[in-house]
Amino acid sequence: MPNITHLKTTTPTARISPRFYGHFAEHLARCCYDGLWVGPASSIPNTRGWRNDLIHALQQMPVPMVRWPGGCYADHYHWRDGIGQRTPRLGISCGTRVTDTNELGTHEFMDLCELLQAEPYLAGNMATGSVQEMCDWLEYTSGTADTSVTRERKRNGRANPWDVKLWGVGNESWDCGGRYDARTYAAEFKRYAVMMKHVDPSVELVAVGNDEVAASRADHMQNDWNDLFMDHVQDHLDLVDQLSVHTYWIDGGSETGFSEEHYYTLLAEADTTEEAIVRAKTTIDKYARGRKDIKVALDEYGVWHPETRPWGPGPHVEDRPFNFEQANTIRDALSVGIALEGFHRQARILGLANLAQIVNVLQSVAMTDGEKMFLTPTYHALKLHEHHISGMGFGVEVQTERLFGQQRVSATASQKAGVTTLTVINRHISESSTVHLHDLPEVLLEARMLSASSPDAVNSHSDPERIQLQPLDAHRKGNVWVVDLPAHSMATLRFRHA
Ligand code: AHR
Repeated sequence: MPNITHLKTTTPTARISPRFYGHFAEHLARCCYDGLWVGPASSIPNTRGWRNDLIHALQQMPVPMVRWPGGCYADHYHWRDGIGQRTPRLGISCGTRVTDTNELGTHEFMDLCELLQAEPYLAGNMATGSVQEMCDWLEYTSGTADTSVTRERKRNGRANPWDVKLWGVGNESWDCGGRYDARTYAAEFKRYAVMMKHVDPSVELVAVGNDEVAASRADHMQNDWNDLFMDHVQDHLDLVDQLSVHTYWIDGGSETGFSEEHYYTLLAEADTTEEAIVRAKTTIDKYARGRKDIKVALDEYGVWHPETRPWGPGPHVEDRPFNFEQANTIRDALSVGIALEGFHRQARILGLANLAQIVNVLQSVAMTDGEKMFLTPTYHALKLHEHHISGMGFGVEVQTERLFGQQRVSATASQKAGVTTLTVINRHISESSTVHLHDLPEVLLEARMLSASSPDAVNSHSDPERIQLQPLDAHRKGNVWVVDLPAHSMATLRFRHA
């Protein structure tokens, strides 16, 4: 007798913001240089320096927002080095120190955003920069008045402002961003935020926060940071629009060849992302007391495997280059799907999210090597979610077995333009799951799934299409749609209402 899961959608929750599907491009290892950016003189086909195969792939999936230039890199970055005559500098992030030519600067990043139709999210330097430097960057990107700063932008080839709304004031300021204590950060944040909002009152400022559970496991993170920060700014709520939290899933053991226990541990860890969002919002609201709806900005999240970090649980690997490049299996793709379920459920309190990072680094959607490129299972997982974006989220009631402390089958649903979109994950490592979908329309527009022969299957330069989207068979039995989901798989079905 197959194990049957019953699933039905319930009531509307909140609109699924495109900003939940953001990406993160840091000047770190081969994410920007030699990843997205090959430069206009490269023999690799490119558009004004951005490699064409990658841009084309990114245009086919949701990239509604990109955070740049860091990360830890942001607190060493001086934007003037990357406009006009470029200034080579030491590019520093996460223990790496390289020559950064600054060939890729503000104009180039904005060009990328225009190519992808993505909203820019700029991370400002609060550790080695100044308030004036951040204000000038804002004026350079968004100013309309005729000033020396906007004239400079025009001289550099851009007449109209880009009108950048999202600004991060520092990054991980409790550690790589200067090891501030929370109260000092809050006092500095106010100074930056007042001046930024003088320059452009319409900017949305993201303050640095952290997650108290993650903090309790790491060095230099104060686990009462959010409390102390919010306490300090509680009478200055006009300055804070979002509070940032970073969540990396680190407990899954090896990137490939992991045990069954580690398989489920990683998926359970992805589930806890929702708890981190709720925790941060609870602290925010304790101090905001209904006076302002400050959102949570999950501006870095994803899997960070031990093979590419010297910290946290292992196993670590000594004999391979420490370059932030890691395997990306179907397990990782399911993890991102699980996190997205939480984002949709918390659509009222989440402001934005950025998967770390877009190419080559950490949980990337594509890997490059010279002329070659392949798409990871995570790319396909995001592609499976594209129709949820801007839809109205719906609750989903799932009756299913419990498995290693989590649901055997989990799901998310939304509605847009008379179409219900349902994405379902079979988390079982080795068994298929039969799922009965109740109360859905008779017209099935599309059913596609992402599955793989083994939970640690990957795409690679030698086998780039081993894992890709495939059609899923769905049939109607009475009033119920029935699907059989293979072990460790994810599927999206779309139904048209009459
Ligand atoms: O994404 C890699 C690094 O992780 C970022 O630079 C930093 O913000 C975080 O610690």
